[in-house]
Amino acid sequence: MPIHLLPDHLINQIAAGEVVERPASVLKEVLENAMDAGSTVVDVQLEQGGVRRIRVADDGCGIPRDELPLALERHATSKIASLDDLEHVGTMGFRGEALAAIAAVSRMSITSRADGAPHAWRIDADPRELSPAALNHGTVVDVADLYFNTPARRKFLKSEGTEFAHCDDVFRRVALARPDVALQLSHNGRVSHRLPAGPREARVRALLGDDFLAAARPVEAEAGQLRIHGFASLPAYSRSSRDAQFFYVNGRFVRDKLVTHAIREAYADILHGSRHPAYVLFLELDPYGVDVNVHPAKVEVRFRESRAVHQFVYHALNRSLAASGAGGAPMAGGDGGSSLTPPAADTGHAPPAFIPPQQGRLAMEPASRAYFDFAASARPEAGTGEAERFSPAAFAPRPGGSAPPPALAPALPASDLAPPLGYALAQLHGVYVLAQNEGGLILVDMHAAHERILYERLKTLLDGTPGVQRLLIPAVFGVGPKDMASAEEHADLLERMGFELAPAGPQELAVRSVPALLASAPVGELVRALLAELRDYPATEVITARRNQLLATMACHGAVRANRTLTLPEMNALLREMEATERADQCNHGRPTWTALSMGELDRLFLRGR
Ligand SMILES: Nc1ncnc2c1ncn2[C@@H]1O[C@H](COP(=O)(O)OP(=O)(O)O)[C@@H](O)[C@H]1O
Ligand SMILES: [Mg+2]
Repeated sequence: MPIHLLPDHLINQIAAGEVVERPASVLKEVLENAMDAGSTVVDVQLEQGGVRRIRVADDGCGIPRDELPLALERHATSKIASLDDLEHVGTMGFRGEALAAIAAVSRMSITSRADGAPHAWRIDADPRELSPAALNHGTVVDVADLYFNTPARRKFLKSEGTEFAHCDDVFRRVALARPDVALQLSHNGRVSHRLPAGPREARVRALLGDDFLAAARPVEAEAGQLRIHGFASLPAYSRSSRDAQFFYVNGRFVRDKLVTHAIREAYADILHGSRHPAYVLFLELDPYGVDVNVHPAKVEVRFRESRAVHQFVYHALNRSLAASGAGGAPMAGGDGGSSLTPPAADTGHAPPAFIPPQQGRLAMEPASRAYFDFAASARPEAGTGEAERFSPAAFAPRPGGSAPPPALAPALPASDLAPPLGYALAQLHGVYVLAQNEGGLILVDMHAAHERILYERLKTLLDGTPGVQRLLIPAVFGVGPKDMASAEEHADLLERMGFELAPAGPQELAVRSVPALLASAPVGELVRALLAELRDYPATEVITARRNQLLATMACHGAVRANRTLTLPEMNALLREMEATERADQCNHGRPTWTALSMGELDRLFLRGR
C-alpha cells in the first residue's frame, strides 16, 4: 500500500482509543466541559451503565450556533490559544479532542443555547446537521450507543453494573471538587445522587458519609505558593482498598505517584501497609507550577518543584494527624506525660481523660507505690496484702460485678502451673495489655494478638463447614454500585464462608448471618472490606489466589480495636488463647504481638541492685 493520509473519521476513531476508554471516560469529558462552561446546575442521566446513553444537561454559557460545528472538530477549543495559555491553563479541558473523539464512536448530538441567543440549536454528529431546537439555557450533550460502530471496543465493555460503577466514580470525583455546583445523577431513570450546592463539608458528608467525617481530621496548610486543604481519616477508619482516596490538584482529580508517596509516608507510623487511609485533599498552586498535559486522561501531572510539593504534603498531613494524638510522634509531654510522673504524695489528682477508667489505677496511684506493689506481688516471698489490687486473682469472673477482687495471698500460683504469658494486670492507653508472669512484665499488643488468633482459627473455616451466627436483626448498610455487583457475583463464596447477604434496596445490603467466629465484629465494616477485596476478581480465582488475604481482612475487622476497654477476664482469656494458638508470637503482618521485660531488666532500668 502506498503511504496515504487517513480519513478524518478514522483519525478520530483512533484518537478515541486514548480518550474514550469506556462510558465513564465519556462522562468525565462531558462533565468537565459543563464545569468549564461555568454551570451551576448539572443533571446526568445514564442508561445501561452509560453504554446505551449518557446525557448531560447544564446551565452554562452555551455554544453559539456558528461554533457548534467546530466543537465537534478535532483540536478545536475555546480554552487556550497559545503555549503561554497552555502553561497557565485553569480549565479542565484544553486539547479540543474529546467531543470529536466521542462523536466518532457513538451517536451524538449537542443542543445548546448561547447566552443571549433567541433560541437553541442542535447539531447531530452524523450526518452533521444543524437544526433549531428548544432549550431555555445551557447545553445538553447526548451520547447514545457507545461503540456501536467499533465492535472490537464494544467487546471490552464489562457488565452494566461495573460500567455504571465506573461512571459513579467519575461523578463523585467531579462532585467532590465542585460543591458549588448542584449535581444529580440518575441511572435507568432512578436517581442515585442528588447533591445541592453548598459548603464543602456537606458535599464530603453526602458522598463519603458521616463515619468518614467523624473519623477524619481537617487538613489546612499554606506555604508560599502552595495550599492544601481537605480531610484525612485517622487510622481507625482505614480501608482495605484505595476507594476513598481523593486528591485534587487545582480542582483536577489526579493519581500521582509523588503525592501518593508523600501521603503514605505521613501515615507510615500509624497505619499498617495493607490498610489504606481515606482522604479528600485539595492541593492548590500556581498553574505554572504543574504540567497537566502529560497523560491522555490527565490523571497524572508533573510538578516543576516536585520535592517541595512532596515535603509540603507530607508535613501538612503529618501535622494534622499528630494534632489528634494519633500521629507518628508518641504522646510525650503535655497532659499525657504528666500522668506518668509520680504526682505529689497525696493523690487528689483527677485522672487524665484518656486513661480507661477501669484500669486507670496503675497511673492514678503514686508511681512508686504501684511499682512496689508490682514488685512485691511478682516475688511471692516478699508478698504483702497490698499487692491485691493488681493481683492476678481478678481474672476469675467476679460474682457480684462490683465487689473488689478476692485477695490472692500467695501472689502467683506455683511456678510450674503458671501460664507462660502470666496474668493480666491492666490495659495501657487502650492499646496494650500488661500482664505479669513469673519472669516479670509481659506487654501484649491486643489488636495484633487477637488478629492472629482469629486468622489461625479462620483458616479452618474455609476448609470445613463454618459455624454460622444468624443475626436476630439483619445488619443493613449502604453500599456503592461496585460493592453491590461484587456481592451478587460472589454470593456463593460468601455463603460458603458463612455470610448470607441479600439486597435490601437499590443501594443497600442486608447481612443475615456471619461466621460465628466473627459474631461480635462490626458487620457493615467487615462485609464492606470483604466486598472491596473481592471486587474485580473472577470468582474462580478468589479462593486459590486470595484466600489468605481474605482471611486476613476478616481477622483484622474481627479483632478488638484500640481503645476498646477490656475487662481483666477478657484480657486473661486473650492471654490463654495466645498460648494455645500456633504462631501467636507474630501478627499476620510479621510484627511481634507481645514482648517481655524481665524483673532483671526492670531492675536495671532503675539501677536497682539485687
Ligand atoms: N457543555 C458545554 N458548554 C459550553 N461549551 C462547551 C460545552 N461542551 C463543549 N463546549 C465547547 O466545545 C469545545 C470543545 O470541547 P472538547 O472537545 O471537550 O475540548 P476542550 O474541552 O478540550 O476544549 C470546548 O472548548 C467548548 O468551547
Ligand atoms: Mg473538554
